[in-house]
Amino acid sequence: MGSLKNRHLLGLEGIPREDIQTLIDTAFTFREVLDRPIKKVPTLQGKTIVNLFFEASTRTRISFELAQKRLSADTVNFSASSSSLKKGESFKDTAQNIEAMKIDGIVMRHPVPGAPLHLTKFVDAVVINAGDGTHEHPTQGLLDMMSLVETFDKLDGLKIAILGDISHSRVAMSNIIGLKTMGAEVTLCGPPTLIPVNIDELGVNVSYNLDEVLKWADAVNILRIQRERQGVHYIPSIREYRSLYGITRERVEALDKELTIMHPGPMNRGVEIDSDVADSDNAIILDQVLNGVAIRMSVLFHLLGEKQEKGEA
Ligand code: CP
Repeated sequence: MGSLKNRHLLGLEGIPREDIQTLIDTAFTFREVLDRPIKKVPTLQGKTIVNLFFEASTRTRISFELAQKRLSADTVNFSASSSSLKKGESFKDTAQNIEAMKIDGIVMRHPVPGAPLHLTKFVDAVVINAGDGTHEHPTQGLLDMMSLVETFDKLDGLKIAILGDISHSRVAMSNIIGLKTMGAEVTLCGPPTLIPVNIDELGVNVSYNLDEVLKWADAVNILRIQRERQGVHYIPSIREYRSLYGITRERVEALDKELTIMHPGPMNRGVEIDSDVADSDNAIILDQVLNGVAIRMSVLFHLLGEKQEKGEA
């Protein structure tokens, strides 16, 4: 069996601390590969991976494809909008027909929470969740933690603020679960309408006062307002949101410390984050993107590159 507890990566919930540490440690070794003139190793030669994206993506899709190519896997991209789904073919038939072509791994993004778990019920390939609705985005959680380790050299005891639309954010959920597993302190901040009522049961703090939270935090991970997942309007106006919860230059300059600025992207400049802040030296947003390739190489290596036996999902 491979070195990780689970055969698939469906979320960070239930992933042991040592597995998260292994994935981050391996990602740092792959980061070195990315700094070489020839950014390629033969680790996944002979493996075939399909990227099954049912939802838009820039960073996750490209970084998974790059990670696969850097590991010498054969990689195929599937786009729902130009597939036979448009002719009425079912999700199950689509997946099983793709797997019939001898696929080892499927990386899937889907708008429905739980879709990657559903996929594991009828394919033998290793399944990696690239974001499922409002549920989880495990590789984003891992790359965010890797970026924090790169900046602070630790996760245990770090004070992390997660700001914005927590209710609709799979990034928030994977960050909360991963950071709590690794011993960080987490405070959620945002409008009361966008923070689930019982979220403190996950062991996080909740505050609606951004300036207090920023004084407390070592780093802030800023989420965008996910209008595409909101059936109704949860905030009165963008102007009010920016005024109460925007990471503006004035807010950051008022702090008597360096605050690390994170954002998973895509950013709405001028709404949840000012352009000056996004482009400042304290922002590690593009490091997060680079670390995304390394963490996805690590996940692919551990799930597909080591000798695997069928185990727990
Ligand atoms: N962070 C993230 O998931 O970005 P994409 O939607 O561009 O993949």
